[in-house]
Amino acid sequence: MTEPTFRTIIEPFRIHSVEPLRMNTRAQRHKALEAARYNLFKVDADDVLIDLLTDSGTGAMSRDQWAALQRGDESYAGSPSFRVFKDAVQRLFPFTHVIPTHQGRAAERIIFSVLGGPGRVVPNNTHFDTTRANVEYTGAEAVDLVISEGRDPSSRHPFKGNMDIDGLERLLEARADDVPVIFVTVTNNSGGGQPVSLANLREIRRVADAYGKPVFIDACRFAENAWFIRTREDGQQDRDVADIVREMASLADGMTMSAKKDPMGNIGGWLALNDDELAERCRDMLILTEGFPTYGGLAGRDLEALAQGLTETVQHDYLTYRIRSTEYVGNSLREIGIPVLTPIGGHAVYIDARAMLPHIDPLEYPGQALAVALYETGGVRACEIGTVMFGRQPDGTEKPAAMDLVRLAIPRRTYTQSHMDYVIEVAQHVCDRAAELRGFRITEQGSALRHFTASFAPL
Ligand code: F0G
Repeated sequence: MTEPTFRTIIEPFRIHSVEPLRMNTRAQRHKALEAARYNLFKVDADDVLIDLLTDSGTGAMSRDQWAALQRGDESYAGSPSFRVFKDAVQRLFPFTHVIPTHQGRAAERIIFSVLGGPGRVVPNNTHFDTTRANVEYTGAEAVDLVISEGRDPSSRHPFKGNMDIDGLERLLEARADDVPVIFVTVTNNSGGGQPVSLANLREIRRVADAYGKPVFIDACRFAENAWFIRTREDGQQDRDVADIVREMASLADGMTMSAKKDPMGNIGGWLALNDDELAERCRDMLILTEGFPTYGGLAGRDLEALAQGLTETVQHDYLTYRIRSTEYVGNSLREIGIPVLTPIGGHAVYIDARAMLPHIDPLEYPGQALAVALYETGGVRACEIGTVMFGRQPDGTEKPAAMDLVRLAIPRRTYTQSHMDYVIEVAQHVCDRAAELRGFRITEQGSALRHFTASFAPL
């Protein structure tokens, strides 16, 4: 019997426990914005209706994850919860050493404090902001080598997160001794949540082997990446996603992970790798700042919840819903004339604010202007990923980032389709008045990751 097909994307879960949304008015939001100096990171979450600031740690845990929390064993050393966690990680990522950390950037800090340092250079398809900051903090240089299509918001390339292999070879030819590791971020968050193909990972492996270099995956959104491989890459359509994930891992020597993304945690991360000596040096750093190696920066209950989350995130029904519901938001925005980065990414929809607000100079932050307008208009909190985040140069000068995007990041299993229909309406309202929006100037900023703390004034 043939399976009937339906257009409506249903959430593959029923709601088991609810959290109230706090309704507010435009006047209240205007006041909240002024108090936050137009920095949405400084707006109280109580004043946000739909929070699309990040998909990190903001997802809903499942019934089975909440049940798993109860099994958490809080022994300082040798907790059985660590074994459960390690087994779950190794089922997907069979690396020898699994080192739990409190979140992704702790894994980054540890690995780069061991491998980085002045004179070193770390290539990545695109460094996420904390990854770049942790590389640069050691005095090393962070180089982004995404393919040129990955920098073009309207290119339809199916794997816009791919590494530019010629660029990688050129870097290694010129500076092989300075490169301690090659990183690849799946999906490529700062480049629009775009996937990396298996073919590209194999090419990275080939080049790395030619120069004797380790490859590490920044694997936060590994399941979404594997789903894109399954649906877009030749010959992958019949494979189990977990199997694709294992192949991705087999092409690398290690990984960093923020378990606040695809592993469905509200907190957590890990570093995993095969090299015994390197693992020992990383564990020494871990003990210094995170905790004993069987819990890292986490409680035993967190380890249990993550182990369960890892089994749920590779389920095909979940991934079908996840990718299609994000695409639904992106396509709906495009249909009402809002320029969005295509193809639509896995965890987020990225609006091309530079194209939407051509009257605002990149150095007057069109992304910030759009994010502020979405919040003021409908209480939707999004995140600028553009010149505010990346414009400041190491020498203190400022230049336009490659793109000025606004990211609507979609927390996992948290909002329904009607919430998203509301977001689309809010965006339409802002789009109809786009010509009235004005840029911003920065009045105060910190020394690293300025977007978290900067103050702005409207122009
Ligand atoms: N790598 C990538 C690709 C990320 O997206 C993030 C976090 C990290 C590393 C750091 O992990 O937050 O657990 O320390 N991204 C979040 C975001 C914050 O909003 O995209 P973390």
